[in-house]
Order: sequence, then structure tokens, then C-alpha cells
Amino acid sequence: MLRSALLRVSRSHKIKNLVTAAPVTGGVVERFIAGETSANAVAVTRRLVGAGLLATIDFLGEDTTDPAQADAVVVAYLDLLTKLREAGFSQSAEVSIKVSALGLHLRDGPQIALENAELICRAARMADTAVTLDMEDHTITDSTLEILRTLRKEYPNTGAVLQAYLYRTELDCRDLAETGSRVRLCKGAYAEPESVAFQDRRQIDKSYVRCMKILMAGGGFPMLATHDPTLIEIGLKLANDYGRRPRDFEFQMLYGIRPTEQQRLAGLGHAVRVYVPYGTDWYGYLVRRLAERPSNLKFFMRSLVTKR
Ligand code: FDA
Repeated sequence: MLRSALLRVSRSHKIKNLVTAAPVTGGVVERFIAGETSANAVAVTRRLVGAGLLATIDFLGEDTTDPAQADAVVVAYLDLLTKLREAGFSQSAEVSIKVSALGLHLRDGPQIALENAELICRAARMADTAVTLDMEDHTITDSTLEILRTLRKEYPNTGAVLQAYLYRTELDCRDLAETGSRVRLCKGAYAEPESVAFQDRRQIDKSYVRCMKILMAGGGFPMLATHDPTLIEIGLKLANDYGRRPRDFEFQMLYGIRPTEQQRLAGLGHAVRVYVPYGTDWYGYLVRRLAERPSNLKFFMRSLVTKR
């Protein structure tokens, strides 16, 4: 499959260096990424909020291999949270973090990532907003959920992402569908083996529906992160079936993907949160967006060829 092949090849350092060195990728990068600085992210947030949308902001970076880099990620989030508070976006913007960016793969990684996440959660509390932990590949699902459990003791509004493509996710949804929890349900964006994840798109979609039912029936706050029109329709129906009003759950989509649909749902009175990534370390994020849609890849390849 093109998607998993692309995700696997993209792990090569040579390919990464080639792509990030090419000055020609700008147009493609800009479609999905808010810019390089926290000021860019805040400016995009201002535009989204002005259009009746909400935001969750991600400082790009993952798989940190150096403690100083993990510290720099924390500093970037503290700066971002200060700017969000100053701009008055506490009620409309939260932040998303990746435990691998916070040092999970370093020596004593789980403890380092937890401490770094705590610093960000504390700053988020001071800014009167919340943090959601992104979910990365399946090898760190357990550690991520363990960090979530610890964080939620002190910061109960910390959210988690669960990926419908993993066989385990229905059970994780049951565990987390409790009062006060916030769960962002997505299909999953990494190349995962058959031993842990559904490979067939229809099976992933069915799993997504089963997980939505669990979350909608539970006591937590479901965050339906998908652009899939069928799943959005089913989500609306389930919300109705389970007596959830428009503000008792939210839709979430990625910056640059289906903006008209984001506006349509917001126009119907639903909460729609846009995931806004910013920073210079955009490679891994961009590859996942290219892998999701072959036409993005064609556009990207064309931009490499035509601007050289
Ligand atoms: P699907 O891929 O079937 O797409 C449905 C339709 O949406 C497509 O037909 C197309 O119209 C549009 N679309 C989707 N992707 C597109 C793209 N890249 N370019 C252009 N159009 C596109 N994953 C993960 O593993 N861990 C995480 O923490 C997160 N976090 C996250 C947060 C939020 C807010 C969202 C919306 C998504 C994530 N994801 C994620 C990504 C997620 O797992 C998934 O890969 C993408 O959302 C695409 O899946 P869809 O559900 O949109 O369906």
C-alpha cells in the first residue's frame, strides 16, 4: 500500500534531509502548517476564532533524542500559552503535545516526559486552558496512557487521543469514557503492523463507529477528530441518540483540511476545533498528511519538479 510504504520510507534520514532542504516545499507546507513561530500560530487562531471555530495548537516536533531539545519544546509551549492568555484565547484554544517530543525516548524517558508534560499542564492551568496528549505509534501507547493517568490526578481536564485502527482501542475507550475525561478519537496516522492494527479501511471505519458509541454513551467529553463525511453523519446521529447537545461533544479537524465543512458544522451550532501545527520541524507531520491522500503527494512531487 502506498500509504504505509511512504510512511516507512520517510523514516530514512537521507529522505528527510532531501525533503527539508528543498526550498520548493513551501507551498505544500503552508497548506497544512500555520507558520514557524508562536506568533504565526496565534494569528491563525485569531482568524479561526473570528470565524466561530476553536483551536488546539501543536508545536511541531517528535522523537526527541537530546534532553536540551525536550527542554526547548517545553519552553516553546510556555511561550505559546502565555501568548494565548494575553490574546484572550483561554476559552477557545488549548494545546496538543507529543510525549516523544518531551523526551520519552531518552534515558529515564517516561519520568522526563511526565515532568515536562506537568510543566506544560501547569502553565495551561495558569492560562485557564487544557492540554491533550497526541497519540503516536503503538510502541508508546501504554506509556502515553500511563502519563495521562498520572497527569489527570492533578490536571483532570487533560485529554487523550485514541486511534480507531488499533485493536485495543475499544477497550481503551471503555476505560476512558468516564465523567470528566476528554477523548479525541481519530482513525490513526502511523504505519502499524497487522499484529496490532486493522489494515482495511472499512474495518477501521467500523472500529471508529464502535468507539464513538462507547464515548457518546459514556460520561466523558467525546472529541470526534475526523474529516470523513460518513463518520461525521454517524457522529451527529449518535449524539442525538445519546441526548448530547451540540456543546456536549465536539468535532475536530486538521488545519487546511476541509475548511468549508468546518464552517458548515460550526454554522449548525456545533463546536469545531481545528488542530493548528506550527514550528520548523514539520517533516513528520507533513509526511503523514501526504500519506493520507495520494493527490497531496502528486501536488507535492509536482512542486519539487516545477520549482527547481
Ligand atoms: P480519511 O483519511 O478517510 O479522510 C476522509 C476525507 O477527509 C478524505 O476523503 C479527504 O476529503 C479528507 N482528508 C483526510 N486527510 C486528508 C489530507 N491529509 N489531505 C486532504 N484531505 C484529507 N492521528 C494519530 O495517529 N495520532 C494523533 O494524535 C492524531 N491527532 C489528530 C488530531 C485531529 C484533530 C485530527 C483531525 C486528526 C488527528 N490524527 C491523529 C490523524 C488521523 O488519525 C487521520 O490520519 C486523519 O484525520 C485522516 O483520517 P480521516 O478520519 O479524516 O479519514
